[in-house]
Amino acid sequence: MNTPNVGGGMRQRSSVFGKLAAIMLAMALALMLITTGFFIALVQPTLHKQMSPITAHAWLLVLSLLVMSGVVLTTQAVLTKLLRPLRVLNEGVTRLGEGDLAVSVPRTTTDEFGTLTDAFNRMAGRVREMITARDRLLVDVSHELRSPLTRMKVALELMPDDVQRARLSSDVAEMERMISGLLELERLRAGRGVTLVRQDVVPIVRDIVTSYEDRPPGARFTTTGAREVFIEIDAEQLKTVMRNLLDNAVKYSLPDSKAIAVTVETREDGARIRVADDGVGIPREDSERIFEPFFRVDRSRSKESGGYGLGLSICKRVMEAHGGAVAFEPGSGRGATFVLGFPNGVDTSVP
Ligand SMILES: Nc1ncnc2c1ncn2[C@@H]1O[C@H](COP(=O)(O)OP(=O)(O)OP(=O)(O)O)[C@@H](O)[C@H]1O
Ligand SMILES: [Mg+2]
Repeated sequence: MNTPNVGGGMRQRSSVFGKLAAIMLAMALALMLITTGFFIALVQPTLHKQMSPITAHAWLLVLSLLVMSGVVLTTQAVLTKLLRPLRVLNEGVTRLGEGDLAVSVPRTTTDEFGTLTDAFNRMAGRVREMITARDRLLVDVSHELRSPLTRMKVALELMPDDVQRARLSSDVAEMERMISGLLELERLRAGRGVTLVRQDVVPIVRDIVTSYEDRPPGARFTTTGAREVFIEIDAEQLKTVMRNLLDNAVKYSLPDSKAIAVTVETREDGARIRVADDGVGIPREDSERIFEPFFRVDRSRSKESGGYGLGLSICKRVMEAHGGAVAFEPGSGRGATFVLGFPNGVDTSVP
């Protein structure tokens, strides 16, 4: 078995502690010199002859303060340079925490910070490998399951038309839905499956919202400002995203929930589509994880609450393929709000 090589990669040739000790020693020496100089100058008879003792003391004090400030500032500059790798590493850790798996921190020193940087890069690489392996496994299993599912469907056709057949058909249809969701996720990640065309999103979104008007708690559509909002989108994929968000909003609504509000907004940095519901809402601590495949706030998956936890991860991939993002917007009131942000130029007509 391989023993983990702690501090592997480039060998550690210097030590942060050694550098810190050297800085502290230099500072102590400088301060000692200043104090000694101050006392020697204080007892200098020539000084007192040229100016009054008070002026001489004031001058000495000012000079000592100036030299001391110089020492402190130099030490601060040296410490800032010394701790720079820690800041860079901190940025790397933050980016990895935010889900940027491609992060890699450059190693600039040969001390403990350099070793830590190597360890971080190895850890990020390992996380990357594990996630890639997980996704690969999901895709492989999904592909492998397609043929037996097709065979099951054919066998079902030959079964007598009874309750059991209906139940099995519904289970097979559910499995098919999950498998196509997983394969769709993979297709989108590979950058395939999206064809961007510059078009007006308003009629597309309005049509989708209209189809939810009769489903409780209902849905209403508004635009802020512009009547036409031209952005580069894949209309079919945007419809999928809107349906996923609206299905969730309907599914997690309460008997007394207000209608789902869908808004198209234009901003300087692009367009936004906001879907706000008045349902059960999402706990703040889960607001990042809901975009992960198979994550559900309520782990107990029932037929009524349905779902495999794939809808929002598909939304995330589609939006990334558009160069945009989907985000959960925390609010103070009840319900959940999701915002789709499109970065590409917006060309709107006058309202
Ligand atoms: N509008 C919402 N209100 C409350 N909770 C929500 C809302 N949208 C999503 N969630 C929570 O986030 C989880 C993930 O949503 P997602 O759409 O990915 O999965 P799902 O709806 O459970 O299943 P699927 O979409 O695959 O049918 C949901 O299980 C639910 O707990
Ligand atoms: Mg869903």
